[in-house]
Amino acid sequence: MVPTLNAEQQSDLLRRGFSRRTFGRIATILGAGAALPFYNEHALAQMSKAGPIPADAVKIDANENPLGPSPEAVDAIYKSVKQGGRYMWEATDSLARVLAETLDVKYSPDEKSSYIQIYAGSSAPLHQAVLAFCSKDRAFVKADPGYEAGEIAAKYIGAPVVKVPLRAGTYDHDVKAMLAAAPNGGLFYICNPNNPTGTVTSRSDIEYLVRNKPQGAIVMIDEAYYHFYKEAVQCTDMAAQDKDVVVLRTFSKIYGMAGLRAGAAVARPDLLAKVRQWSAGAMPITAMHGAIASLQSKSLVPERRDYMIGVREVTCDWLASKNVKLIPSQANFFMIDVKRPGKDFRRDMAQQKVFVGRSWPVWPNWSRITVGTKEEMAKFRDAFERCYNA
Ligand SMILES: Cc1ncc(COP(=O)(O)O)c(C=O)c1O
Repeated sequence: MVPTLNAEQQSDLLRRGFSRRTFGRIATILGAGAALPFYNEHALAQMSKAGPIPADAVKIDANENPLGPSPEAVDAIYKSVKQGGRYMWEATDSLARVLAETLDVKYSPDEKSSYIQIYAGSSAPLHQAVLAFCSKDRAFVKADPGYEAGEIAAKYIGAPVVKVPLRAGTYDHDVKAMLAAAPNGGLFYICNPNNPTGTVTSRSDIEYLVRNKPQGAIVMIDEAYYHFYKEAVQCTDMAAQDKDVVVLRTFSKIYGMAGLRAGAAVARPDLLAKVRQWSAGAMPITAMHGAIASLQSKSLVPERRDYMIGVREVTCDWLASKNVKLIPSQANFFMIDVKRPGKDFRRDMAQQKVFVGRSWPVWPNWSRITVGTKEEMAKFRDAFERCYNA
């Protein structure tokens, strides 16, 4: 659904010489622009912040990677900076080529036959797919608790949002319940592993969802945290097989490039065209070169995964030894039951200069903790001792 312009906006546009014929396009741009930058993990994490964060604080609230970009990426970025006066479409083209090869999907500079589209992160294609596939009659369907960005975009354009509880015990997506709850769903969102629980939905359940979804709907598989799970099975091959899926990838997580901005959508060319009508634009060449160098490093993913999993397990074992209830996670974050309103726990932890993640309305006493470095998690444990049950 295209957001409409109110009377004041319309008369302002007429005054400035726009014709009525352009209103639809302008409303579209306004809608996309308003939905795009505000609701990524960073913004969601910041929403309840009271003020500036001290420089020596431990920031484990936004599922960022404390290791930052790899040395190879940093080197490539430095080398690319001097070319920054040009738009450099070639850099985006090169990243598309390298990523397509890694994912074994077809890339062509001719959009009509390409299965990959590069973006500045994965938030943009997530929001734009909502704009493309949801409407007041076609719902956005997600798990609860789940990542909120798509839901906020859906509400923004007036599309219904259907939230289906994660399965009890396993905390994976209940795909049958999602189908039953939304016979007219437009976009079924599977975050795998799921943000905020870090739990994994099986490939067979995703295939079931794709086979049984309503006609005209798409299944979006958000693989932002894919690399943290050694046994993960990617779904990009389903895009290559022309299924009705859109798979999202980002360089913000294991690759440590959240502030540099690179990501991609992988899908059949006609689906990508629908998402792209809400814009892709020129990409930052620094991020393009950093992403290419990251993909070319053979050791980056296994080394970082081992490190982050190691720190996560030490932290979770320690919490379990204190009888803290937690959900076993396959990502760089996990949820714990803090036995009181998560927002109060968060406030108290912040006073200890440890900034933990938010809680979800459906589980108000659970907090999401991002895995930091070994040293940061030692500080987390100290602060936790002071704030748990405070
Ligand atoms: C599940 C999920 N998808 C997408 C994103 C978007 O990240 P980015 O736009 O940095 O790629 C995030 C950010 O944390 C996320 O958690």
